[in-house]
Amino acid sequence: MGDSHRALECDGRAQSWATRKISPKAQRKGEPEVHMTDQMRRLSTPWAIASERAERISESNLPPGLILDPAAGSGIHLASICIATNRVGLGIELDEEAARFSAANMNRLLVKGKDPGRLSHRILIGDGIDASGALSCLHSSLESSGVASTPPIAMLHVDPARPLDAQNHTLDEMAPPLRPLLEAWLPHMEKDERGPALLLDLSPRLSKAQRGEVDSILDDLAPNTNRTWEWLSQGGGRIDRLSVWVGPLAAPERFRSIRMGPSSVQSVVTSAEQSLFISEKRTMPPSFDDWVVVVDPTIVESRLHMDWLQNHLDDDYNPIWQRANLRRPVLVSKTPPPENLRTDPFVIAVGQVVAHRLSAPNMENAPTVARAAERAGVGHLVLRCEVDPDFHPKIQKRLNKALKGIDGKRGFVIDVPVSSRDGGWHVNYVTCSEN
Ligand SMILES: C[S@@+](CC[C@H](N)C(=O)[O-])C[C@H]1O[C@@H](n2cnc3c(N)ncnc32)[C@H](O)[C@@H]1O
Repeated sequence: MGDSHRALECDGRAQSWATRKISPKAQRKGEPEVHMTDQMRRLSTPWAIASERAERISESNLPPGLILDPAAGSGIHLASICIATNRVGLGIELDEEAARFSAANMNRLLVKGKDPGRLSHRILIGDGIDASGALSCLHSSLESSGVASTPPIAMLHVDPARPLDAQNHTLDEMAPPLRPLLEAWLPHMEKDERGPALLLDLSPRLSKAQRGEVDSILDDLAPNTNRTWEWLSQGGGRIDRLSVWVGPLAAPERFRSIRMGPSSVQSVVTSAEQSLFISEKRTMPPSFDDWVVVVDPTIVESRLHMDWLQNHLDDDYNPIWQRANLRRPVLVSKTPPPENLRTDPFVIAVGQVVAHRLSAPNMENAPTVARAAERAGVGHLVLRCEVDPDFHPKIQKRLNKALKGIDGKRGFVIDVPVSSRDGGWHVNYVTCSEN
């Protein structure tokens, strides 16, 4: 066995080691119990997302071979794919402790048994970029367990670690970095006419230019292969996952936006093309009684907002996009949004304008903001505008306190950019009542 990597079997021994270190816990109610340090938990893919993806992967008719995850972390994403596809898993993890927990988690999650497939799962401690070192280690380890042949690689999933300051990181700072990783593994992958099966988990904050860099890496290394970019939201008003699905894993369309509920997909929008986002900055904020729809940013960031909206437009409903800040895009209209838009999973809130102000809600003016809302019949107000993040929960608490015991509708505050006469712009804070 070469000494670049060390192989761990996913067996009872791995599990006993892990149990002595950290007792297994379900990350969320109803999910399987796994071993994780706090650091691993922060990096891990939620079980619901991993298993939903795994189900889709199982439908893609992968070429023969094993599932490779060269930055396996807790191993739960790898395990979920192995379970759904009934394939052998090969995880590689640089951090020895994480690798040991990963082997234990694989053992916990995979169906028990003594067949060669069950005995062939491995987690290697070592560098995920060193494909030949990893393969020779895998080969020796399987041989010493009596498994004569090393399976080919059917699919590569990678969820690289990224710097904590994800807003500004470069692609090279991904660990392991994408280009060298794919250069190392693609020659070892089993491919059919659809090209290699790759699932690349990327930082949801990648800029458009960085996504372009990923596209050119794939153009170079997996040319003429379909790929689908996927934005996924869990409804918290942010993009939770950005991934690229390549070759057998790609959909016919190039772009996809998914809204996930707690355990299942609630809505999917796909398109072959992205649309331009045209945000209308008007000289006036939305008027009193105008209708405001706060939209999940995923649908705009993926530039599938026009495909999405198309299904909801009719002769009476013709809204404009009015917002510069894409974190909480809004649609504004004179007429009420149709029922099927109000209940769309990509809609965060719907309301009618009841008050305006020029300054952001803060600790001092929160009672005044609350009183204005109360006068308009609002009894509970949610901040959906940019405020100092350190103070956001405190301002929200103050609003809740000021409206405590008030019987009224739910409402929210959004921030809308408005053009000024001097060519600049200012922000208007608009309170809406959910009718
Ligand atoms: C975002 S985490 C993966 C999380 C995983 N998808 C899960 O569900 O737990 C990335 C992992 O890559 C590991 N890593 C970073 N560089 C690596 C390298 N060159 N080779 C192998 N693993 C690496 C890190 O230690 C970290 O555990």
